[in-house]
Amino acid sequence: MGLQKRTVWLDCDPGFDDWLTLLLVCRSPLLHCAGVSVVAGNAPLAVTLGNALRIRALHGLQVPVYGGCERSLMGGSETAQNILGKQGMATLGETLPSTAQKADGMDGVGALLTHLRGQQASQAKTTLVAIGPLTNVAKALQQGARAMQTLDEIVIMGGSTDRGNHTPAAEFNIFADPEAADIVFRSSIPIRMFGLNVCRQVLLTQTHVQEVKSWLGAEAQILGGYLDAYQRIRSSDGLEPMPMYDPVVALWLHAPELFGFQDAPVDIELDGKLTRGMTVCDLRNRAARPINTHIAMRADGDAVMTLLLKQLKKALAS
Ligand code: BDR
Ligand code: CA
Repeated sequence: MGLQKRTVWLDCDPGFDDWLTLLLVCRSPLLHCAGVSVVAGNAPLAVTLGNALRIRALHGLQVPVYGGCERSLMGGSETAQNILGKQGMATLGETLPSTAQKADGMDGVGALLTHLRGQQASQAKTTLVAIGPLTNVAKALQQGARAMQTLDEIVIMGGSTDRGNHTPAAEFNIFADPEAADIVFRSSIPIRMFGLNVCRQVLLTQTHVQEVKSWLGAEAQILGGYLDAYQRIRSSDGLEPMPMYDPVVALWLHAPELFGFQDAPVDIELDGKLTRGMTVCDLRNRAARPINTHIAMRADGDAVMTLLLKQLKKALAS
């Protein structure tokens, strides 16, 4: 009997770490990626969507890619271009080639809901993997709550049990659209959160970068240049390890035994002058409030990095 693949839908804002995730998810022997919706985040939508299309073309990925929301629910447009550059990702090598390929549509929210309604008819399940601001996901909940309830879980890279990155209190994906995150965390769909606290246990070093750069082939060479620039975000000499964010979710889908979780209530701070966008995780082990989130607390960082490189090498070779 053939292996039953887990169906996933990827919502992302490429972004270099989104690139790695897209590649791992689409080339995984364990997963079927039914579609990719893109959201504004690391850069404005025109840039993140353009990046997604270039990534698909470079690797010849067979997956529909849709544009999604251009602005947060409140109309804002927070990006990470101050850190990542205009393109939402930088390289020390060759630039990701441009492509004439177009998006399969510009209603990513509608495409996700259409996919879920098709799944509903055959009683099949989809896991929604969301690694950008949660605007598309919240809009899908507003437009198709019933279809969204058929998801087996929403797996998020975002938030933190401790300090933030975009602000002292908030992680970027949540800060970019806190009202959307609030809708998602209150949806009663099971949420699995990979926040900064766990991603900071999965560290990319120059040794990893040099290994990728030693691989043969144009795709590996292009990817290696971006990986190098990503690794040097914290220190230009590359000496300080850089946390891996979005790909950690893809690696959990492959090797859940490398992670430890705590179930807890999580609320999104919408009002705080200094804390807007904070994920307030109640880790006190009190039974009084309903639990809405499986929070990733621990990762075997070395094993996760080893797996990342192994999967990446396979993905580039297939
Ligand atoms: C998250 O923010 C983005 O810059 C990354 O792609 C990741 O999804 C990390 O805070
Ligand atoms: Ca991202």
